[in-house]
Amino acid sequence: MARVCVIGSFNVDHVWRVAALPQVGATLAGHYHTGPGGKGFNQAMAARRAGADTRFVCALGDDAGAQLARQLCSDDGIDLHSAASAAPTGTAGIYVDAEGRNCIVIGAGANADLQPPFVETALHGVQAGDVLLAQLESPPSTIFRALAAGRAQAATTLLNPAPANVAIDQSMLDQVDFLTPNETEFAALIGRHVGERIAADTVVGLDQPRLHRLCRELLPHGSVIITLGASGCFVSHPETHLRGDTHTCYRIPAEPAHVVDTTGAGDAFNGALAASLAQRPALACIEHVRFAGHYAARSTEHTGAALAMPHIAIV
Ligand code: RIB
Repeated sequence: MARVCVIGSFNVDHVWRVAALPQVGATLAGHYHTGPGGKGFNQAMAARRAGADTRFVCALGDDAGAQLARQLCSDDGIDLHSAASAAPTGTAGIYVDAEGRNCIVIGAGANADLQPPFVETALHGVQAGDVLLAQLESPPSTIFRALAAGRAQAATTLLNPAPANVAIDQSMLDQVDFLTPNETEFAALIGRHVGERIAADTVVGLDQPRLHRLCRELLPHGSVIITLGASGCFVSHPETHLRGDTHTCYRIPAEPAHVVDTTGAGDAFNGALAASLAQRPALACIEHVRFAGHYAARSTEHTGAALAMPHIAIV
């Protein structure tokens, strides 16, 4: 069975639940909890809990956060390859409001020390059909080399271009089979790579032909899946590579959910998508996206990030 290999961040999340997200100068009372997170680790947990054989490549400090990462990988059966860093393990400060919306500040810490040679060694053994999944909380130069190595080994490459403020080169996009931005990340990429200004909050309302055209200009050779939160997602393929689908572009509505916390919902989607692609390569893309949407909806019904990933094994 093909494997999922996630390259990315591990963070210790410090979370405050508040009635409303803080305004400048405000002091609020909230309920605090801490738990594992980081876009990379959240996606690895989602892939694993969706049933995929999963490897996670990251950098950790020498502290309690690193011990937590090792323990959780051992508990869930994730094949951990961690580079040692003198910096503290990554952290994130997260506010979650009464509607489950969040805002996040990241302290990269050890994640900034994930270097290309370590990743290239950790990717030995990646084979055709494996799925390589990365984000942008690790150095972009490292993520580029990871994607290029995956490509060279005929793996399917997925880039979740998050967070939105990290700029990437065209050469990175050239390594990507699937690009999975949310609307904020999509608007930022279109501004940088296509030269059109669009406001993030207008992406969901753009008509299908315009969205498809923007996706084709952004990633001519690959598929783009824009995640749109409660509005589901939009899928765009190149005319010549429909990945088993019957349409070059389409929308899929979100599944209803009793939302308590959307932290990591995008990570849930990406991890589940990677797991489905690895485990069911013969399926049409639309079925992988439907599964990812279902998995992400269920993840929002639990508090936290990595530990909110549900056990929904693909059958
Ligand atoms: O996507 C959610 C994640 O973003 C959190 O777990 C936090 O650690 C940040 O990386």
